[in-house]
Amino acid sequence: MGTLRANFYILAPTQEMGEFVEKTLYDIPEESKKDFYKSKIKRRARMKIHNEDIKFIKADEDLKTLITNNWKPIIGNHMHINDGISIVGMLKEEPIAVISVYWTHWIKPLNEEMDGYIDIIEVKDDYRRNGIAKYLVEKAEDECRVRNLKQIRSWSSDNKIEALQMWKKFGYGMCPARIISGPNQDILVNGFYVVKTLTQET
Ligand SMILES: CC(C)(COP(=O)(O)OP(=O)(O)OC[C@H]1O[C@@H](n2cnc3c(N)ncnc32)[C@H](O)[C@@H]1OP(=O)(O)O)[C@@H](O)C(=O)NCCC(=O)NCCS
Repeated sequence: MGTLRANFYILAPTQEMGEFVEKTLYDIPEESKKDFYKSKIKRRARMKIHNEDIKFIKADEDLKTLITNNWKPIIGNHMHINDGISIVGMLKEEPIAVISVYWTHWIKPLNEEMDGYIDIIEVKDDYRRNGIAKYLVEKAEDECRVRNLKQIRSWSSDNKIEALQMWKKFGYGMCPARIISGPNQDILVNGFYVVKTLTQET
C-alpha cells in the first residue's frame, strides 16, 4: 500500500426515488472552476505524493468536457450528468478518478423495476491501490440507495483483470458471459456481468 490518504468530502445523499434532482454532492465552487478547467493533466511518480486533499465532486458538463479532452475521450463519453451521476476524485486541479452510474429501467415484463448501472470506473494508474475505487463504488451504491434502487450492476471484459478482482473483493455476484459488441455488432467479448443487491444501511 502506498502513502496516499484520501480525505473524502462527499456529502450525504438525500434524494428520493423519482426526483432525480442532483443536489447532493460537493459542487465545484464557482471561484475554483477556472482553475479546474484550465488545468492540464499531469503524471506524477507513483506513490511519491503525500496527499490529503482528494476532493470528490459531482461532475458537471464542463468537468466532463475537461476529462474528455485532457484525460481520455472514452471516459468522458461514459460520464452521465442528467440521466445518472458522475463522481470525480480531484487532486488539486487534476481529475484522477471517476465513477459514473446511470439509472435504468429493466426490460419487459419487469419494466417497472429500475437499477443503477456503473458505466465507467477508472483510477489513474499512479493513484491505484489506495482504496479510491472502493470509495467511489460505495458512493455510487449510496446514490442508488437514496433513489430506492435495490440493485447496482456493471460489466467488465475478461482483460480487465484488476476490475474483476475488485468486483470479487467487493462481494459482487459474478456472472460469466459472452456478449456481442463492436460498431457492427460482430465481435464476441468474454467477460462478467457483476451485480450487487443493495440493502438499506442503518
Ligand atoms: C479497477 C480499478 C478502478 C481499481 O482502482 P483502485 O483505486 O486501484 O482500487 P482499490 O485500491 O479501491 O482496490 C480495490 C480492490 O480491487 C482489487 N484490485 C485492484 N487492483 C488490483 C490489482 N492490480 N491486482 C489485483 N487486485 C486488484 C483488490 O482486491 C483491491 O483490494 P485490496 O487493495 O484491499 O487488495 C483500477 O485498477 C483501474 O482504473 N483500472 C483500469 C480501468 C478499469 O479496468 N475499469 C473497469 C472497467 S469495467
